[in-house]
Amino acid sequence: MANRNNHHTSPSGDLSSIRVTRKHFLRFALLAAVGAVATEGGAAFLLFFKAKKVGAFGGKIVAGRVEDFPVGSVTRFQEGRFYLSHTPDGFVALYQKCTHLGCTVPWKPEDASEDDLANKGRFNCPCHGSIFNRYGVRKAGPAPRPLDIFPVSIVDGKVVVDTDPNKAIQRSAWDPKHAVKA
Ligand code: FES
Repeated sequence: MANRNNHHTSPSGDLSSIRVTRKHFLRFALLAAVGAVATEGGAAFLLFFKAKKVGAFGGKIVAGRVEDFPVGSVTRFQEGRFYLSHTPDGFVALYQKCTHLGCTVPWKPEDASEDDLANKGRFNCPCHGSIFNRYGVRKAGPAPRPLDIFPVSIVDGKVVVDTDPNKAIQRSAWDPKHAVKA
């Protein structure tokens, strides 16, 4: 008996195989597309967290080799929002956020120094005029305390700074124990 609804039979038998193949192909294509989106999304997710954790503010930053920073040098790390200052007592990573009202404090290499490590260079907050020396210690202005510092460690001859703001250390004065020797 003839079956009018049977799409699986055809004079040549090709139609059913084409239909099945097309159906499978479409399903496969859909799965492939979903997979691609998921993979890209996963990659973007991982990259996002990698960026947050390594080399950017909030994570650990490898500043460079110890010998790249002579004593007395102040080096800005814009991404990490800190200055690496190499004092005779060791390294300190000074958080750029002013301890008065939070403005970003620029390093002024041509301004008169407020310490005995060099003739020039100090931090000068543009908002209300607080001044800090290479140790991050306040020398003038309304800031209530020195610049905060991030934990520093020396790993394989490199200076590593942990810029997690929750780990920023508040100080009341310069203490050599805050500096990390190479
Ligand atoms: S915010 Fe820096 S002196 Fe006020």
